[in-house]
Amino acid sequence: MLSGLLKVPVKTADLRAALLSGGSPATPAEMRKRFNEYLDGLTKGKEPGKVRIVTRIGAADMTKEYLEQNLFATQPSAKPQGPVECLGMTFESDEARRAYFADKLRAGLEELQAKLGGGPFTSVDDAVGRMKSIEHWPIGDDAGLRELAQRMRHGDAGKDILQRWKDEVGFPHGRIEDILALSDPPYYTACPNPFVRDFIAHWSNEKRVLRTERENENTQSSVLNPQSYHREPFASDTGAGKTHPIYTAHSYHSKIPHLAIMPCILHYTEPGDVVLDGFSGSGMTGVAAQLCGQPEAEFKATLEAEWKKQGLPAPRWGARRPILIDLSPVANFIAYNLNLDVSAREFKKAADDFFRKIEAELGWMYETLHADGKTKGRINYVVWSEVFTCPNCAGDVVFMDQAYDPKTGKFAAEFECPNCRAALTTRSCEHKYTSYFDKAIGETVRKVTYVPVEIEYTLPGNKTKYRKKPDADDLALINRLAHEQPRDWFPTAKLPLAEMLHASALGPKGITHYHQFYLPRALHALSTMWRIAGEWPNARVRGFLKFMVEQCFWGMTLMNRYQSIQFGKVGGSQVNRFQPGVFYIPQASTETTPWYILDGKFKRLQKIITTNQLPISRQFAISTASSLQLSIPDKSVDYIYTDLPFGDFVPYGDLNLLIESWHNVYSDLGQEVLVDEKRKKPVAVYGEMMQRVFVEYYRVLKPGRWATIVFHNSKNSIWNVLQEAIGAAGFVIADVRTMSRGQGSFKQVTTAAAVKQDLVISAYKPNGGLEERFKLEAGTEEGVWDFIRTHLKQLPVAVVRTEGRGLRTEPDHSALSTQSSALEIVAE
Ligand SMILES: C[S@@+](CC[C@H](N)C(=O)[O-])C[C@H]1O[C@@H](n2cnc3c(N)ncnc32)[C@H](O)[C@@H]1O
Repeated sequence: MLSGLLKVPVKTADLRAALLSGGSPATPAEMRKRFNEYLDGLTKGKEPGKVRIVTRIGAADMTKEYLEQNLFATQPSAKPQGPVECLGMTFESDEARRAYFADKLRAGLEELQAKLGGGPFTSVDDAVGRMKSIEHWPIGDDAGLRELAQRMRHGDAGKDILQRWKDEVGFPHGRIEDILALSDPPYYTACPNPFVRDFIAHWSNEKRVLRTERENENTQSSVLNPQSYHREPFASDTGAGKTHPIYTAHSYHSKIPHLAIMPCILHYTEPGDVVLDGFSGSGMTGVAAQLCGQPEAEFKATLEAEWKKQGLPAPRWGARRPILIDLSPVANFIAYNLNLDVSAREFKKAADDFFRKIEAELGWMYETLHADGKTKGRINYVVWSEVFTCPNCAGDVVFMDQAYDPKTGKFAAEFECPNCRAALTTRSCEHKYTSYFDKAIGETVRKVTYVPVEIEYTLPGNKTKYRKKPDADDLALINRLAHEQPRDWFPTAKLPLAEMLHASALGPKGITHYHQFYLPRALHALSTMWRIAGEWPNARVRGFLKFMVEQCFWGMTLMNRYQSIQFGKVGGSQVNRFQPGVFYIPQASTETTPWYILDGKFKRLQKIITTNQLPISRQFAISTASSLQLSIPDKSVDYIYTDLPFGDFVPYGDLNLLIESWHNVYSDLGQEVLVDEKRKKPVAVYGEMMQRVFVEYYRVLKPGRWATIVFHNSKNSIWNVLQEAIGAAGFVIADVRTMSRGQGSFKQVTTAAAVKQDLVISAYKPNGGLEERFKLEAGTEEGVWDFIRTHLKQLPVAVVRTEGRGLRTEPDHSALSTQSSALEIVAE
């Protein structure tokens, strides 16, 4: 019937994605425009009169790919309201699902406490016996338990079996109640996740079902026929997608955008495959794995076109199943919030209620009188200046008054003492300390002195920004709040300064306890906001609300720098201006108000969820644990994407402590893989820890499968121990690239490479079958050819940068014998 005509098939999923791109709801005109653009794209370059669009989802379109996409794709297995399914069980609502698994988690935690707590470590056999008696918590098999107990032997003499076990598995420090409050089991637990094994079993069953359904089909899909799996090394730009709303939704140190990870996952895996990230931070690997089942239309079209141009097979869309592990409960809380869908309507309701309540409870703290002497304005921010002591006359020097020029927005390097006219610099001045009684901890302490010097505010119904010097009322209010204790809870624990990398930036400034990061008004506001957010009844929505409020925990500290010049102009937003990656208290700090930070944040989060950008598969597991000891069965993972801690570059653990203090659950930093002299982890110890991680990675990965390892550090010593760890575990490094984040350009690593960039390492676990066959055919010509054939199948194909855009792959047999010999980096 269509002879002489050009049949252009349309998949309903693509059509749906095109119509939804840009968001829903949409006006009729917008929908029409999207539809026309989609049709134009389909028919581009074709003679319109001859084109016939075919949109059928009948038996003929029920291809294997279609079935897989729909089994592993856009159907959420659970919705926030109504019956939901989880781990093969059906619950009447999502709250019922959570309650059921929270009860199981509580039972497990209490049993651990009852059976392991209090008992001294007497012998390996005794420890194994006690651990084996645990019924509600899958601790491991016999061999694993024995190995664990051997390591527990070396724990501190004063520690009971429970604490020694916790130290080995990276169990965070916190009370059971606080761990439960932060968790949303079985998806995310703020402790090792006892449901990970259940997820893996469930996913493996899913695949079995698919395989049984399609077993008569002659197919090359490796979901259906694992023996047919074969991939070549592949790397993608680690900086792509940095402006995507999911990436910017929440900050985390050295994040990799999900759009940068998706191409790797699509290349190495099939829909339904299990993807592991043992250093998952903010959970971008999980977002990427799940979103392979709901790609945005533009990303999908671009990637398909690029791969086609490079001669690569088309990506197989469909959600993958991520397991995310990180030591930090709050990194995982970010991951949880970005990996689980939430109802936009419910979140809006909760946020409206939250904003109404904070207006009523906190509004009065942020009022200031306008120049007309009667209208009250709402403060946006207050600039605070450090007060120095002049080394010449011992008089006070308000830094901003002396060094800052409001016209140019610049700070002078050299300024005058207002009392004796001596020439000063920030280095030549001394801190002026104020002693006060800190009611929260019941101690007299001293801190560096700051005074408010400028207020920015707006008037009701008017967007104009006004500036003023604090008047007597403003100062009286600040003084009153400084003498009143906040009514609600706030963290008062002591910072572990003796172990922290940036301790010298805090202790000498009078910050020894978490609440001391905040000026009095900010502490009042945050404690109230945290209480209100925590009162919302629905757990999922409450989690998302807390995720929003969390964004103030750094931005409302004294660390928020006053950034007077932005984009070359005086002024600009003062939201989240703290220096990333360090604890740094500036001389000019901005005290921002909750609305100033949260109004924009709320709108952005709301947009993400109303446009359905969060993953909806509800098939993922997040565990707060150490990757030195994975609670994952052998050979159960299909692919690893992992972004390792950067040696000595970023003290993730220290940086996470401030937000952890608000949740009252802290990472077990003894297990942190980091070069950290203060915690007695020199490069050699870092190497040993990495080796244990890769031994675990090797154990859980299926033979013949791949790992993409992203790393960033310019020190040769650190790169050497990492390389050794990967190789010693048994992995074969097939390829190493440097990647200039955001530019997508790759270079083969040889020597003296620009290692300020990311390294992307492609390694695989050799297929065990080879060793067996090699034994049988040892010494024969066939044995040698078998060896060559097997390695050639995996290996070395160099990815080279081609003229114009994109990459192509080409065989590079010279690399066969190298493993990693060409990978030395000479430090710059
Ligand atoms: C480079 S960051 C990962 C960032 C992540 N790719 C993202 O996009 O957010 C490394 C992470 O490793 C975690 N980490 C360090 N030691 C660990 C261990 N022993 N087990 C699990 N996670 C660990 C840190 O908490 C940190 O979040």
